[in-house]
Amino acid sequence: MIAHTISDKNILSHVADCYGYFVTHNAALSGALSAELEELQRSYYPDLHTWLAATQFTGILFETRALPIIKEGKLVHAIFVGIGEGGKHGIEAYRRSLAKLIRLAINYSAESLAITLPNPELFGVGYSYLARETASIATMTNYCFDEFITIKEKNTALSGIIVGGVRAADRDAIAEGLTNGFCIGHAINRARHWIDLPPSNLTPPELAIKAQEIAKCGDLGITVFSEEEVNKMGMGGLGGVSRGSDLDCHLVVMEYRTTRAARENAQTIAFVGKGITFDSGGLSLKPAGSMETMKDDMSGAAAVIAAMGAIAQLKPDVNVIGVTALAENLPSGTALMPGDIIRFYNGKTAEVRNTDAEGRLILADALAYTVKHYKPDAIIDVATLTGACPIALGPFFSAVMSQHKDLVQLIYRASDMSGDRVWELPLDDDFRTSVRSSVADMANTTDRKYGAGTICAAFFLQHFVGDIPWAHIDIAGTAYDVPDLPYYRPGATGAGVRLLIELASLWPC
Ligand code: BES
Ligand code: MN
Ligand code: ZN
Repeated sequence: MIAHTISDKNILSHVADCYGYFVTHNAALSGALSAELEELQRSYYPDLHTWLAATQFTGILFETRALPIIKEGKLVHAIFVGIGEGGKHGIEAYRRSLAKLIRLAINYSAESLAITLPNPELFGVGYSYLARETASIATMTNYCFDEFITIKEKNTALSGIIVGGVRAADRDAIAEGLTNGFCIGHAINRARHWIDLPPSNLTPPELAIKAQEIAKCGDLGITVFSEEEVNKMGMGGLGGVSRGSDLDCHLVVMEYRTTRAARENAQTIAFVGKGITFDSGGLSLKPAGSMETMKDDMSGAAAVIAAMGAIAQLKPDVNVIGVTALAENLPSGTALMPGDIIRFYNGKTAEVRNTDAEGRLILADALAYTVKHYKPDAIIDVATLTGACPIALGPFFSAVMSQHKDLVQLIYRASDMSGDRVWELPLDDDFRTSVRSSVADMANTTDRKYGAGTICAAFFLQHFVGDIPWAHIDIAGTAYDVPDLPYYRPGATGAGVRLLIELASLWPC
């Protein structure tokens, strides 16, 4: 967690290791420095103007410079990041420029950073939202998975941020935005941590314990079903996938109830997550190379559980149910076999042609359970479901599929607001027959001639949602090892966390 201070004073009147400045294009060269830079020049670096010009810093978007200065006898850094021409770039440009600034500060081993927020109008937004994005992006950028590194060479994270130069009129909006943003960022990093943990450490029972801890501290309702109960309930998908594993599978159900006045009329939405803590493929074993990152196959469940934790704090005006199916997909003498036919919680059957298409099998039971026990107003499932997804959309967009246009639109809005980006693939009925089987109600693989593995998988899931408005989000491309974006690092990204939290906050009740 990053501690934060809000102050009306110039950042230079605070003690920090780095001082960050957002600079618009050419403001650096125009001769008219901003009030903040003016103060820096006056107090610590009389040649600032010359220095900026000599380093050819013009404030174009994402350009950075670091200037060492001696302040009260101590070496600190002034960091400049360009934000381009005001009004030309949206909030994502701000997220990235802030992330670059923070990354640079961390590279200088800074523990504390002082910044003045840029004018939110430059990005077409207000102070509360800008502050929220500041806190969530700072927290994301600060993430580091180093608990297994024995000798840490230097400080790798900020512990404090000072937001200076805050006018009295903006203070409340900024304070609220920062608080919410740190909460969201913390949820994202929590999910990333669970995903980054080795699969022998973060097992299905371990992830169930994490969910219990989240529920306890957020005062959420929670039920954890054991493997025995899963099998007794007739969940042949979840129980079947877990047959190859020595560990218990779990179905975890978390409940957030809105506390708003008109509680009786509140809608209920459900988030459902795939939680395969390791996907070897099962008897349809994956090649070694494809297995290397398969500890990330619980990213959907991590997103749901972490989002539930943030929702408990942010208290949106909608009831939210979080259902996650947790299991390992391993080969063994008791494992599910290609050719097996399993029966799910809603009575439907499936032919298992490939044990590596296990995600849809466990989600089937989780979805059927959600429908039967909650009949929510909408269901959104999140899963690292298909290798075809990153082939279609790459690492920057999760795939969204739904036959409910309103729901897709809301998800796009949540995506725009949160920065957790999605792109729609067509869930067209022409693909419905792709999951046909001649021996069961459906098959878990599809004929090559349909292609579109991501869409076909969604049609398998559609058998389990009845007529409840439902959207499926495939995060197989976005969950892990996303290149280039400065607020991520190699490893887990927390894809889905921001999206789900935003969706609950935007939900029209
Ligand atoms: N967890 C994988 C999907 C995946 C692949 C996620 C690569 C992230 C990166 C899923 O369980 C799987 O193995 N899907 C198969 C389905 C196929 C056998 C029908 C796939 O996509 O190859
Ligand atoms: Mn698989
Ligand atoms: Zn999988």
